[in-house]
Amino acid sequence: MNDHFETRAIRLQGERSQYREHSTPIYVTSSFVFENTEQGRRLFAHEEEGNVYSRYSNPTVSEFENKMAALEKGEAAKATASGMAAVFSTFAALLKSGDHIVSSRSIFGSTHQILTMILPKWGITHGYVDLADTSRWEREVRPGCSKILFIETPSNPGLDIVDLRWAANFAHAHGMLLMVDNVFCTPYLQTPLEFGADIVVHSATKYIDGQGRALGGVTIASKAIIEELTFVLRHTGPSLSPFNAWIFTKGLETLAVRMDRHCASAETVGLFLEAEPLVEWVKYPFFPSHPQVELARRQQRAGGGIVTFCVRGGYDAGVRFMDSLEMASLTPNLGDTRTILTHPASTTHSKLTEEERLRVGITPGTIRISVGLEHPDDIIADLKLGLAALRKK
Ligand SMILES: Cc1ncc(COP(=O)(O)O)c(C=O)c1O
Repeated sequence: MNDHFETRAIRLQGERSQYREHSTPIYVTSSFVFENTEQGRRLFAHEEEGNVYSRYSNPTVSEFENKMAALEKGEAAKATASGMAAVFSTFAALLKSGDHIVSSRSIFGSTHQILTMILPKWGITHGYVDLADTSRWEREVRPGCSKILFIETPSNPGLDIVDLRWAANFAHAHGMLLMVDNVFCTPYLQTPLEFGADIVVHSATKYIDGQGRALGGVTIASKAIIEELTFVLRHTGPSLSPFNAWIFTKGLETLAVRMDRHCASAETVGLFLEAEPLVEWVKYPFFPSHPQVELARRQQRAGGGIVTFCVRGGYDAGVRFMDSLEMASLTPNLGDTRTILTHPASTTHSKLTEEERLRVGITPGTIRISVGLEHPDDIIADLKLGLAALRKK
């Protein structure tokens, strides 16, 4: 098949049924019938491949998995009920008591909870490293125990970048697997496995759905790793529903065009904010003002759909800005057709101390925009309402 991303994302499809449907169908069924008892025995004994029960596998879910493996340039993929189920079950599949994870400090809040509150119950520990200071990473490695290096690039909401090739070499030199949360970029903008990463995880809830409808996740890795993960999922149960898998499969068909528009509008919005005196700073990976712009341009196709900025006047100014908007949504999601604003200090990162927030680049006036697909002029008109509220003070 043609190797272009768009063509694969649209044309990769499961086997057509006897009804010769054009668009992909949904197989909403809990289980699958055996032709006879002997076939049931062979399927359970893994002597024959095939669907048995939708907690194990389902054709609609398999179609989504196969597409994600192809787009991320991986050998295999396994889908889960949410992005966090992908992160947790991948840890559960690969780690045992006494193992250790080296993780970037700038990670999604629930991943932080897994590392600090859940995995320690089974004797799995972690050490945090700062993305901006790779010279100190070695100190966190516990020889023989550190098994996974976990990173997000760009980070949320700071949009710091890690050199994926460097991180893969570092992980392998210390006997670790490199695991990358690729939610912000999607495989259209960045394919970590091509830079040497071993595992990619996604919250499909974000850009892969792209319209804020369904929760889901997926892990992409070698066949051997996915086999271990499949065993854990088969018996613990956080399987993706076929209906959500169908939404994601259809979402992938438009991912490239949506991401192109998200990125173009994010640049337009970022440039508008950069020219605004009431804005202290703007962070966007492809802007010359970003300290790692050259690295971002090397490993990403475009800058992404997220812009982070800081209004002058601290926490109160941030809150006033947010509360003056009329169109943008205040909701804890990203990667939607609708523009979404988040004030991390009062919401997603409110449980961190101010010092901890500053360590991951969150000042009291920091605001994150997930730039949607509305007309960019209308997004900017809405942001102007926030700035006008700051001027009124
Ligand atoms: C970077 C990142 N990773 C993981 C997740 C978790 O995904 P889910 O909400 O699908 O469990 C999120 C969700 O916001 C996220 O932003």
